[in-house]
Amino acid sequence: MTLSTFTITRPDDWHLHLRDGDALAAVAAHSARQFARAIVMPNLKPPVTTTAQALAYRQRIADALAAAPDAPAFEPLMTLYLTDNTPPDEIARARESGAVHAVKLYPAGATTNSDAGVTDLLGKCAPALEAMQRAGMPLLVHGEVTDPAIDVFDREKAFIDTVMIPLRRALPELRVVFEHITTADAAQYVRDAEGPVAATITPQHLLYNRNAIFTGGVRPHWYCLPVLKREVHRKALVEAATSGNPRYFLGTDSAPHARGLKEHACGCAGCFTGFHAIELYAHAFEQAGRLDRLEAFASFFGADFYRLPRNTGRLTLLREPLRIPDELPFGHTTIVPLAAGETLPWRVAN
Ligand code: DOR
Ligand code: ZN
Repeated sequence: MTLSTFTITRPDDWHLHLRDGDALAAVAAHSARQFARAIVMPNLKPPVTTTAQALAYRQRIADALAAAPDAPAFEPLMTLYLTDNTPPDEIARARESGAVHAVKLYPAGATTNSDAGVTDLLGKCAPALEAMQRAGMPLLVHGEVTDPAIDVFDREKAFIDTVMIPLRRALPELRVVFEHITTADAAQYVRDAEGPVAATITPQHLLYNRNAIFTGGVRPHWYCLPVLKREVHRKALVEAATSGNPRYFLGTDSAPHARGLKEHACGCAGCFTGFHAIELYAHAFEQAGRLDRLEAFASFFGADFYRLPRNTGRLTLLREPLRIPDELPFGHTTIVPLAAGETLPWRVAN
């Protein structure tokens, strides 16, 4: 039976980059059109390392949405950027604020704006991690080693062995989200690990393998970190996302960069999916014959892991072609959405 409309509980995005200033103003309403809430990444320049900064950033997001015509209600769930010097008190302040829901680990140098990231997780960060474990505050992990000697396609697997396993042995009750997993190794690790572990999965890692970066030439809009992997890994991620296992949930990692910074001699990492994320996921789930499992992945499992109420609103998708625009306004420049110019089979109803 082919459905012509498909309605789910309003979804949430458990991993989103909204940026700041003009970029924030350009992208915030796209997410609000689809999602009720989002975990907002703290890798601004400078990074969001304190609760006070997170609260100020949350206000800027609210202001940007208030200025956007017809943006539906949207709740930004704030995060702190873990550094070697994050004091345990800051974790307590974050918890008490009610507005900060997690702390993000960027290994120093792993990706965009990660220079202030962690160099000594189990040493210098131990007091903060212990405070997080006590407070039930999730650690969100960018799971790649940064050693330039490790092949870029192997950095997630190496991270599991050298960081994730020792971390979880040292702090077995720490709540951990392995963000934007890209390999069969990570999917299997998350499935089998003991204790409170989950993972987010992006639409690009469900829909594409690494050939997409090189089809007919270098295609920078398919470049993100962790980079797309082989087809066996994509298949394992589809299997995980559509399995009904509550440890896997939606996190777009929509990461807007101006067109000129992507189409560049040293292009930035990040796919912009904020415009059409839920349509991309619907397509991936339908291709797997598991559209029936989209709602739990998109709307239930993340809220449950974060110990937040599930949304009560609804979102309807229509089986109508959505032509992905070639570009969208982005401050004084433009941004190119993932798969620009292609057509998706589902679109969000207005
Ligand atoms: O591709 C990425 N872009 N991966 C990240 O981890 C960061 C993100 C960004 O902020 O642009
Ligand atoms: Zn990210």
